[in-house]
Amino acid sequence: MNPEPPARRARLPLSLRRSPVPWERQRPTWRDARPSLIAEAVKRAQARPSGNWYVVGASASLGGDRPLARTVADHEVVLWRGAGGRLHAGPGACPHLGAPLGDSPVRCGALVCHWHGLALDGSSFAGWEPLPAFDDGILLWVRLDEVGGEAPLDAPVVPVRPAHARGVTAVYEGRGRCEPEDVVANRLDPWHGAWFHPYSFVDLTVVGSPGGDGADDGFTVGVSFKVAGRLVVPVQAVFTAPEPRTVVMRITEGEGAGSVVETHATPLGPDELGRPRTAVTEAVVAASDRPGFVFARWAAPVLRPVMRAAAARLWRDDLAYAERRWHLRSTGRFPG
Ligand code: FES
Ligand SMILES: [Fe+2]
Repeated sequence: MNPEPPARRARLPLSLRRSPVPWERQRPTWRDARPSLIAEAVKRAQARPSGNWYVVGASASLGGDRPLARTVADHEVVLWRGAGGRLHAGPGACPHLGAPLGDSPVRCGALVCHWHGLALDGSSFAGWEPLPAFDDGILLWVRLDEVGGEAPLDAPVVPVRPAHARGVTAVYEGRGRCEPEDVVANRLDPWHGAWFHPYSFVDLTVVGSPGGDGADDGFTVGVSFKVAGRLVVPVQAVFTAPEPRTVVMRITEGEGAGSVVETHATPLGPDELGRPRTAVTEAVVAASDRPGFVFARWAAPVLRPVMRAAAARLWRDDLAYAERRWHLRSTGRFPG
């Protein structure tokens, strides 16, 4: 299953699986993936402070003369960049007669309502109150105190990332009919990897599960990413939940050590049938000390769509998992 020690694997990025195990003959993981273990990890994540911050999109998606419109827990918000690129955010309805500000253009740093020309420069105006916003360099966050109901924090809980200049980043965005906790629970079940996503993962072993709260509260996984055929990249990764709506996978050994995949779940509000909707924003920050990785940074414009496509394939399945979990929970049929 996991024959080589990590130190040896670290020197060799690609391995050839000597005797590939067919999907149905791999070791079942359901005994280890105890529902209570996952539920407790979700509960611990939910108990951590978020300071009422919500991820609303990718930093790179905001700029120029268009704002970014999002709904968080049924609250319309709008973000734009003002003079010098400064980030502004606030309610998405114009204080005059309620026009959708997300459809309004940015002119000279001000958001100019396209119904009657009211210009917002980001400061309070006629009952329109700005919202705290944060650009962490990869993702945009908005603080909504009335939605979160926690003690506010000055800044969101941003996971530690490899130095931006060294990494290749890509952001995937998707949506599902579920609650944020269903997305978090999916990410805190590392045991499903090689069974549910055999096109991406093989030889998965969970080598450490959380025993309690604190810094070591993570799932440690040995897994191989499939490249092509029997060619794989074996790594060790640790999954942690630094706040209620974020799960971080950090590669700790093997190729790309230090790389992170951050999954953020943001409640959008109910659909027309009253079912909850959740946005998944996943940032991949790939890093490597390998000299050849310089090439990867040059090739970032080509790599980014590939990374996004890989995330999209995984999330097609993972959102089905999260939606199914919500469906069973909401009808009182969730096992465990
Ligand atoms: S609705 Fe915005 S200016 Fe009238
Ligand atoms: Fe998954």
